[in-house]
Amino acid sequence: MTKTTYNPGKGPDVPVGIAILGQGTVGREVLRILMANKDSLEHRVGGKLEVRGVAVGDLSKPRAGVDQSLLTDDAMELIHRDDVDIVVEVIGGIEYPREVVLAALRAGKSVVTANKALVAAHSAELAEAADAAGVDLYFEAAVAAAIPVVGPLRRSLAGDQVVSVAGIVNGTTNFILDAMETTGASYEDMVQQAIDLGYAEADPSADVDGHDAASKAAILASLAFHTRVTKDDVYCEGISKITSDDIQAAKAAGYTIKLLALCERFINPQGEEVISARVHPTLIPRDHPLASVNKSFNAIFVEAEAAGRLMFYGNGAGGAPTTSAVLGDLVGAARNKVHGGRAPGESTYANLPIADFGDVQTRYHVDMQVVDRLGVLAEVAALFSANDISLRTVRQEDKGETARLVVVTHAAREADLARTVEKLQELDAVKEVTSVIRLEGE
Ligand code: NDP
Ligand code: HSE
Repeated sequence: MTKTTYNPGKGPDVPVGIAILGQGTVGREVLRILMANKDSLEHRVGGKLEVRGVAVGDLSKPRAGVDQSLLTDDAMELIHRDDVDIVVEVIGGIEYPREVVLAALRAGKSVVTANKALVAAHSAELAEAADAAGVDLYFEAAVAAAIPVVGPLRRSLAGDQVVSVAGIVNGTTNFILDAMETTGASYEDMVQQAIDLGYAEADPSADVDGHDAASKAAILASLAFHTRVTKDDVYCEGISKITSDDIQAAKAAGYTIKLLALCERFINPQGEEVISARVHPTLIPRDHPLASVNKSFNAIFVEAEAAGRLMFYGNGAGGAPTTSAVLGDLVGAARNKVHGGRAPGESTYANLPIADFGDVQTRYHVDMQVVDRLGVLAEVAALFSANDISLRTVRQEDKGETARLVVVTHAAREADLARTVEKLQELDAVKEVTSVIRLEGE
């Protein structure tokens, strides 16, 4: 077991030294708002705050409004300075931030990070390093930017049993899907706009391929189920295969398509309590509360046994919203540096097994091109039934030689659906399975 070091606090007379690593979309706002609101923040901390240095990748870039004497391109040297107590990591990526954050924790500095990719990949060694040094590791901004959801799961719901966490946790993809549906904008144009507005990750494929949301799902599932869940445990599908046709067809049928993160605790067919976390494009009814979450906003539902259903909603990306969460964490970490004590650490005692993805259940919207002849409908329906999937609705549109057949299922296992799609593609009557989109919220 890791030995936890006690932090007695340095008292209100010695300033808390801060190192900020990164001056991009988030780092610039962190420095600007921290300096603008320094007096109020110091009152909230009950002690003085001093920015000791600001690390960047490229020192030759112009940085308007930044005290040039604070700038360095040697983050490692900065975090090891004796007068630095808290390190704010807003660089992004995994390998270099991992090195620098671990070094900071091991050197007795508390860390505030917005880096979900880092936390979702290396939570165990980060938590261990923080425990061993008796310092804090805060990451509220890593999930859904401005929305306080890490704190509520860690503290406010610590007395309850969370059953599920589900929602929209990536601003970029929500911004893209919303614009494609409401204005008919192209996918490529909207990806570029999300980059220009500072919503997207440095490599926007992390957003559109679902990896950013999967990292956030891993963090949420870990907190909700007191179990270590890494990004590799999360089933992940992005939005790059969603076409304007899918979006308009969904709209006509009374649905909207959202990239959802879904974390659940359930009993598997072997009778074990297991958890799952998945990210994929999802059809939801247009009157569902998540359907009206537009632009780069995020929303998360948490369902707990005693609390019932809670909804968290707000700005899910961008410099200022993310800074709100970073500075909230900074105040918490600074209070502990001044007055002593620690924030709650990682809780993984439940150690629930990760479900086999094939056992996860949801509903499906399966779109096919079939030969327009007598008996095809019955053949397709029989195949679903033979694979233990019951159909809720079937809709056929004639298109001359072929017909479009849209099947909506009742809840079924992923493994059964995958087998059915494989067999459908072998039927002579089925020309093509055009799309399979999961459906939630009815
Ligand atoms: P940016 O790409 O805009 O900024 C990255 C910053 O890191 C740049 O200032 C860059 O320096 C600096 N940097 C790169 N390498 C180094 C290095 N070796 N040492 C010190 N600094 C370095 O990223 P964002 O601000 O958008 O994101 C930062 C983090 O916040 C990421 O983990 C992201 O996932 C997370 N986040 C982002 C949100 C957003 O809406 N943008 C929301 C929530 C979380 P230089 O300026 O010289 O290039
Ligand atoms: N790229 C992320 C998003 C930033 O679009 O949600 C916020 O984590």
